[in-house]
Amino acid sequence: DLTVHSDPNTLRRVTKALRGGGRRVTLVPTMGALHEGHRELMRRARSIPGSTTVVSIFVNPRQFGPHEDFDRYPRAFEADLQMCREEGVELVFAPDVETMYPAGFATSIDPGPLGDQLEGAARPGHFGGMLTVVNKLFAIAAPDVVFFGEKDYQQLTLIRRMVRDLDIDVHVVGVPTVREQDGLARSSRNAYLDDDGRRAAVAISAALTAGRYAGEQGPAAVVAAARGVLEGEAGLDVEYVELRDPDLGPAPEIGPARLLIAARAGTTRLIDNAAVSVV
Ligand code: PAJ
Repeated sequence: DLTVHSDPNTLRRVTKALRGGGRRVTLVPTMGALHEGHRELMRRARSIPGSTTVVSIFVNPRQFGPHEDFDRYPRAFEADLQMCREEGVELVFAPDVETMYPAGFATSIDPGPLGDQLEGAARPGHFGGMLTVVNKLFAIAAPDVVFFGEKDYQQLTLIRRMVRDLDIDVHVVGVPTVREQDGLARSSRNAYLDDDGRRAAVAISAALTAGRYAGEQGPAAVVAAARGVLEGEAGLDVEYVELRDPDLGPAPEIGPARLLIAARAGTTRLIDNAAVSVV
């Protein structure tokens, strides 16, 4: 049975009691408008033996810029609860903004240099706001295992870094990106796409595939191959195509790497990424 909590202290007491009874607590942080990507995270969480799963649903204003889509971000609370029930999730945490950020709230997490690169260059303050709310969710639920999607690879990387740097006692699991049949990464923001935007958007995952296949011709060829596919799609404005190492440091001349793309279809910003082996 599903129980919804909006009070942090109540959730804290419940998860504490569960841990005291020998159960592990797993946490899937989300902003709601749940889709098949989120469903996969829930399934992975539910598959941990002896665990009780918490899904948090909170559209976090601190990770949206002043001109971003906080107000129009899709909200579908009843459908979200339905998906949680379907997946056997026991606990939903859905706090109010005022509860998470009461008057006088002042402390935040500094992501360090990676927070200003890639997505951070386009979205100043985004990753600081994201890490701050994730840290709060960790402090409230005190999970043993947390699940994040590779879809937001820089987010996952920064969370792993925070957990190491701040000695947080939690195991972070990264989950591969769930895609539509044509390759488009599932995203709550896909709901903004009109028919033309939806057609254009498929070029992003196609570009990643082209980049992967160019891996055996070296790092420059990977980026060139991806750019070639993107430039063939008039309906997309490319923001960046970057090859990095798996921790998002500088691209390796040889070895495992990550190819990351951001592009706009009309006013909708889309991101995607893939592992590439440069040989
Ligand atoms: P949200 O965009 O709702 O995503 C919640 C989680 O679902 C993230 O870990 C994200 O990477 C994962 N996810 C999204 N699309 C996915 C897909 N196609 N395949 C696999 N996983 C996918 O990311 C956030 O919310 C917020 O920044 C949050 C971490 C909740 C902090 O506010």
